[in-house]
Amino acid sequence: MAFLLKGAHVVDPANGLDGIMDVKVDGERIVEVGENLSADACEVIELSGKYLVPGLVDMHVHLREPGYEHKGTIESETRAAAKGGMTGVCSMPNTDPVTDNGTVVEYVKSVAAREGHCRVFPAGACSKGLKGEILSEMGDMVAHGAVAFTDDGRGVQGAGMMRRCMDYGKMFNKTFMSHAQDEDLVGEGQVNEGVCSTRLGLLGWPAEGEEIQIARDIALARLTGAKLHIQHISTARGVELVRAAKAEGLPVTCEATPHHMFLTEDAITGTYDTRLKVNPPLRTAADAEAVIAGVVDGTVDAIVTDHAPHAAWEKSREFELAPFGMTGIEASLALVLTNLVAKGTIDYGRMVELMSINPRRILGLEPVGVVAGSLADLTVFNPACSWTVGEDGYESKADNCGFDGCAVTGRATDVFVGGKQTLRDGVVL
Ligand code: DOR
Ligand code: ZN
Repeated sequence: MAFLLKGAHVVDPANGLDGIMDVKVDGERIVEVGENLSADACEVIELSGKYLVPGLVDMHVHLREPGYEHKGTIESETRAAAKGGMTGVCSMPNTDPVTDNGTVVEYVKSVAAREGHCRVFPAGACSKGLKGEILSEMGDMVAHGAVAFTDDGRGVQGAGMMRRCMDYGKMFNKTFMSHAQDEDLVGEGQVNEGVCSTRLGLLGWPAEGEEIQIARDIALARLTGAKLHIQHISTARGVELVRAAKAEGLPVTCEATPHHMFLTEDAITGTYDTRLKVNPPLRTAADAEAVIAGVVDGTVDAIVTDHAPHAAWEKSREFELAPFGMTGIEASLALVLTNLVAKGTIDYGRMVELMSINPRRILGLEPVGVVAGSLADLTVFNPACSWTVGEDGYESKADNCGFDGCAVTGRATDVFVGGKQTLRDGVVL
């Protein structure tokens, strides 16, 4: 199928593009980019007033399949991803069975190929069963298409174990993604330790419980030479640690979520809304500001959601019993446009770096640009569309979105994955 995508404002900083042009797609690739392209034998899609950017990739997503299909499936959560404007997601390995061997990687890929609405790049576990004791089958997983390693959902507790993971796994040239959480220090912490935990009478999850492992893993990246990526960074000192590591020239990157930038511990009130129970927890306003400062100055490389669907009955339990995590993949583009781009904190080009270019680079994926020859993975959004998160429900199987009810402006309208349209006029195909 050939498409002529007409008159959108194209933003692609990697190729120096920022202006109105036409994009012609034939098969899975872009064949021509320019002004007033001829429509011969193409389906013309009129996009004036909209933005067209290299396809967004969310590099931190829980699809839940296999094993937790009552929370979400590869079909339902990639449907949510397409609705949010994503062309690809990196799936986390805390499935059941854990994605710690090639067979599970193959399973995720095959279900995604059959039922998925975007590309799925599986991350493999660092350790068998996420237990932090025995190395996972890293080579087998890479052979089957794993793009990175992480024990996300948990941190690797032992420094020696993390060192062995990095020393062994670095031969595959993949990035180690670290969910930084010292379990001995964090214990049963429910919310940020400090004003919030005191006010609500809940056990605290101190910032140090995250920062200790960030510092440790940076030291291990220095020791082993392995590539390190800090997941869902949430504290001011954590951002400072990554900034210093980068200044030192270490191969360290990090990501931040909309909820750690645009929500704070103050949002958790006496209603004990369990949608706001996330790991790491919502922090202070000063922490959120520091994370945003990192987004602005380049310390933060990627914006991700940590999209974590849970069943309604799980989230409707008491705060201490409810699982950590919120969904967000249907809202993240809108939240970034509303809270960062519209306010002038970052421009569209920086947004494309954070949500498209850098995630692909960190995961070692083929780069995508709005240029002839590139894979036609493209996201189109209307920057002027005002809507309320959750007003029409969610494509995700779950509805535990912490931004439910927020007024936002900007929404994905059309998405192409390898030249195939997956979202048309806001409807998932
Ligand atoms: O809030 C979270 N939920 N953080 C994690 O690290 C894991 C995730 C989940 O799997 O639900
Ligand atoms: Zn995590």
